[in-house]
Amino acid sequence: MMKDNRVSKVYEAERFREMGKELIDVLADHLGSLQNQDTKTVYPDNAPEDELQFWERDLGRPSDPMSTFKTIIARSQQTQHPRYMGHQTAVPAPITALTGMVTDLLNNSSGVYEMGPVSNAMERVVTDFTQKKVGYPKTASGLMTSGGSLGNLTALLAARKDRAPHNVWEEGHNEKLAVLVSEEAHYCIDRAARIMGLGDKGIIKVPVDDEFKMRADLLPHYLEKAKEDGLHVFCVIGCAGSTATGSYDDLEALAEFSKSHKLWLHVDGAHGGAVVFSEKYRPLVKGIEKADSVVIDFHKMLMTPVLSTALLFKEGNKIYRTFMQRAQYLWDSPESEEWYNSAKRTFECSKPFLSANVYMILKTYGNDIFEKNVDRLYDSAQVLAQMIKGKPGMELLHEPESNIVNFRYTPHKNMPTDKLNHLNTEIRKRLVSTGSFYIVQTTIGDQRTLRCSIMNPLTSKADFQDLLDEIEKQGASILGAELVLG
Ligand SMILES: Cc1ncc(COP(=O)(O)O)c(C=O)c1O
Repeated sequence: MMKDNRVSKVYEAERFREMGKELIDVLADHLGSLQNQDTKTVYPDNAPEDELQFWERDLGRPSDPMSTFKTIIARSQQTQHPRYMGHQTAVPAPITALTGMVTDLLNNSSGVYEMGPVSNAMERVVTDFTQKKVGYPKTASGLMTSGGSLGNLTALLAARKDRAPHNVWEEGHNEKLAVLVSEEAHYCIDRAARIMGLGDKGIIKVPVDDEFKMRADLLPHYLEKAKEDGLHVFCVIGCAGSTATGSYDDLEALAEFSKSHKLWLHVDGAHGGAVVFSEKYRPLVKGIEKADSVVIDFHKMLMTPVLSTALLFKEGNKIYRTFMQRAQYLWDSPESEEWYNSAKRTFECSKPFLSANVYMILKTYGNDIFEKNVDRLYDSAQVLAQMIKGKPGMELLHEPESNIVNFRYTPHKNMPTDKLNHLNTEIRKRLVSTGSFYIVQTTIGDQRTLRCSIMNPLTSKADFQDLLDEIEKQGASILGAELVLG
C-alpha cells in the first residue's frame, strides 16, 4: 500500500510554529494599523454575491495559508477600528486571540467533565464571579451558552418547567401558555417562545413608554386579559437593555409584579447586563438580583469574541430539572446535580471552551477591567449625544442610557417623515460605502434613525466629530443633487 503522508503533515509541529510566529506579526501589524487609523477602511462593503464568488474562486486557487489569512483580514469588517460603531459586537481584547489558539488546539469540549476538566471548572469560576456581581445569593448557579439567544431560550425552558401548571417536558402541551415581554425586546425572545410552541397568542407584547421602557403599570391589565383568553402566563421578561435604543426596563417594578403573581422573572441582559460590573451604571439594573434568571453576553460589552454568554439562576438547582434526561453514555444518574458535567444543564452537548477568554481577560488585566470598559463606552455615548444636541441640523431621538445612540440628520424643521427617512437611509448607505465609518440604522416608530453602538473604547471625540461632519456633508450632497435633478 502506498504511504500517503498528507494527513500526518497536517499535524506537523514545526510548520505550526513557523506559521504561528508569522501570523502573530501579521495580526499585530494589522491591529496597530487600525488603531493608528493608517488603515482607513472600516468595512469593505462588497456585495454578498461578489463576496460569495470571490471565495468560490479562491478555494480552487493555489496559495499559501498566510496569503489566505491576509485576504480574510483585508475583506472583513474591522471591529477593532475606532470608527467601527455598528452592531453590538465586542472589540475583543487581543489576549483572547491567543487564548483561542490554545483552546482550539486543545479542543476540550465542556459537555462532560472528563472531556473538559479545565473548561468545566473555569466555567464555574466565571459564572460564580458574575452571579456575585448580579447580587445573587449562595444558592445561585450559572452556566455558559453559545450566545444570548440560546441563553434566553434556556431560561424560558427553566421558567416553564418551574411555573407552568403541567410538565410540558414529559406530557407535551395540554394548556395554552404565555409570556409577558416588552414590545422592544430582542427578536430572539419571540423566536424562543415560538420554538417552545407558544404561538402568536403566547407572546404578549407590552407597550413601552416615551423612554422605550416596558409599561409596568400595564402588566396587571395584560395578565388579566391573558386569563380571560384562556392563557396561563408563566414568565415576565425584562430588557436590560433593549436592542434598538439600549433602554432599561424598571426591573424593581417587574420583580414586584412577578413576585405578587408567582411568575418567573427573566432578565435579558445580553447587551446591558454588563453594567453589573460597574459601580457607576449599576443603578440601571436596580432589582436585577430579584430576577429568577439573567442572561449576560460577554461578547457584547465585555471584550470577548463571539460567543460567550453567562446564564445565571437565582436558585441554581432549577436548571438541572429543565433538561432531566437519560444519556447513559455520558453520565450514570440523570437526577444528580453535578455542576462539572455541563451538558446536564444546557441544550448543548459538545460545547466550546466558552469561559477561557473571560477568565484570561480578568486574570491578565484585573477584576475591575470590565467596569472600566463599560464606564468608558457609556461615558462616550453621553459625549456623542451632547455633540449631536449641539448641531442645529441634527436630532437626538432619545437620551442614551447605554452605549447606543439614535439620531438623524434633520436639515429643515418641517421636512416630511418619508423624506427624512429616505435622506437618512441614503446618508448611511453612502457613509458605509465610503468605508470610512461603520454605523447601522434602525426604525423607531415611523422614524428611520442613524444608530451608533459605541463598542470600541479607543473611539475618540475626534472620531465623533469627523462622523458628524461626514453625515452633514453627505446629507447636504444628497439634498443638493436632488435639487439639481428637481
Ligand atoms: C437585548 C438582546 N438580547 C439578545 C440578543 C441575542 O444575543 P446573541 O446575539 O448573543 O444570540 C441580543 C443581540 O444583539 C440583544 O441585543
